[in-house]
Amino acid sequence: MTVVLEAEGLTKRFPGRQAAAVDGVDLRLEEGRVLALLGANGAGKTTTLRMLTTLTRPTGGSARVAGADIRTSGSAVRRRIGVVGQYAALDEVLSGRANLVLFGRLLGLAPAAARQRAAELLVQFDLVEAAGRPVGQYSGGMRRRIDLAVALINRPRVLFVDEPTTGLDPVARRSLWDAVRELVDKGTAVVLTTQYLEEADALADDVVFLRDGSVALAGSIDELRLLAGPPRIETRPPSLEDLYLTLYGPTTAEENR
Ligand SMILES: Nc1ncnc2c1ncn2[C@@H]1O[C@H](COP(=O)(O)OP(=O)(O)O)[C@@H](O)[C@H]1O
Ligand SMILES: [Mg+2]
Repeated sequence: MTVVLEAEGLTKRFPGRQAAAVDGVDLRLEEGRVLALLGANGAGKTTTLRMLTTLTRPTGGSARVAGADIRTSGSAVRRRIGVVGQYAALDEVLSGRANLVLFGRLLGLAPAAARQRAAELLVQFDLVEAAGRPVGQYSGGMRRRIDLAVALINRPRVLFVDEPTTGLDPVARRSLWDAVRELVDKGTAVVLTTQYLEEADALADDVVFLRDGSVALAGSIDELRLLAGPPRIETRPPSLEDLYLTLYGPTTAEENR
């Protein structure tokens, strides 16, 4: 399997702060897999992601992403990755389709190619009906899906997503999870950060627990489940989330707000 991301001793110290925000983190990810960076607020998830995506420079360590060195070949890294930040920067007034075309043009696509790619992504992310509406009017889940779509315009080999579903309702969360799974099935490697164990459980192949900037525990999801203890069978009544999904439906609830 091709390794698409490898980090060794990745470190970030911010000026005037005693403790390193990220302190000697090792990571490894193969093609077509999902790596979840888990940890509480302040654990160093976003800073790690920002270093890997060349948005901020490490103060120590090294990493190769999609075959290029983040310190010496930043522009090559940026051409081969997609990034969805915690707060995305789309034009609120432009429609979803117009945003996709605009970013396609900014990435160097010819007008017809940008329109073609926008149309494909609107279908892929179930946004055809909302394509003409201003992004500022999108629900949280639609907003997250258009963020993902924009990040995929240049068909990145590695997609980075910071807290994909924080603040989303359960229906929107499921639909975003489905969208990520579909990408991975097509061969994109994904690095996501999350505060939610269930999200890592649902999406990830590999998990890295960060604590105070360091790796507290890392492994494949199967290894980590075994560490959690012997298998057990439990019965429980359906959860309120099941009731919610019954009430609002798995796909339509978001559009009806
Ligand atoms: N620009 C910055 N300047 C100084 N400290 C920062 C900066 N960005 C993040 N930090 C600190 O680095 C630590 C890790 O933050 P962050 O990577 O945002 O954590 P997480 O995403 O896991 O919540 C925190 O202690 C945070 O306060
Ligand atoms: Mg963060």
